[in-house]
Amino acid sequence: MNSRRPEASREKLEAWLRYYDDLNLGEFYTSRRSMGKRSVKSPEDPSKTAAPVVPVAIPFAVPAAPAPILPVMHAPSLFEALDRVEGDTLEIIRENLGECTRCQLHKQRNKIVFGVGNPRAEIVFVGEGPGHDEDVQGLPFVGRAGKLLTQMIEAMGLQREDVYICNVVKCRPPENRKPEDDEVATCSPYLYRQIDVIAPKAIVCLGGVAAQALLKTKDPISRFRGNWFDFRNSKLLATYHPAYLLRNPNAKGEVWKDLQKVMAFLGLKPKKSPR
Ligand code: URA
Repeated sequence: MNSRRPEASREKLEAWLRYYDDLNLGEFYTSRRSMGKRSVKSPEDPSKTAAPVVPVAIPFAVPAAPAPILPVMHAPSLFEALDRVEGDTLEIIRENLGECTRCQLHKQRNKIVFGVGNPRAEIVFVGEGPGHDEDVQGLPFVGRAGKLLTQMIEAMGLQREDVYICNVVKCRPPENRKPEDDEVATCSPYLYRQIDVIAPKAIVCLGGVAAQALLKTKDPISRFRGNWFDFRNSKLLATYHPAYLLRNPNAKGEVWKDLQKVMAFLGLKPKKSPR
């Protein structure tokens, strides 16, 4: 899809796609596409095909009871096609974003937090939005929650530099409030483009805001965390946000189980000996 498409045409196209989305034709569209020439990764549940989860003691926490696994439907949206840009790169996306003033979040931000990490990462972590420390440094997950995220990544046998880390919104919401729907909608196309360029095998949504934004659901994360979904050409799994874990350390066991699923899917072994 060409990024230079005039706004009027885009609006017409959006209205047209909204109509087809309302008819739930997204599934039909992606099924057709997966049968055609464009290769779409297998829709199989990776938890059924990947190596079994290695039982390892939680390296950063106390175990908790397993959460029930409930199926959640995610109908792919026709809008996905609108965000795809041929020949895209992370540099082009950053350039297109510019000194963004597209939503009200720009008014109080200090720095745009675009994202950081390996542009060829197999795994992308998506958080909610920058906090105070991130806004000051222009880097995602560098505060207290970020330090816990780094521990989680290292417990998975990876380094921060191996993965890509970004957020649903790129500017800090005032007082760390949740981003509004219109702010998410304005910023999401850039996130989708980042994901398309990186083409990770797995996306881990950190917290309900990220998961709800990407899966386009209002269901609470407790209903679907730890389950795999198809998202664009990747597999997506949601787990609790590290900031939530700082407030609720007992949930670390559930998060470690989720991360072990991701490790099994990616064939990762924990490098650290469990404490
Ligand atoms: N919380 C987030 O969701 N993202 C960050 O970058 C930092 C904290």
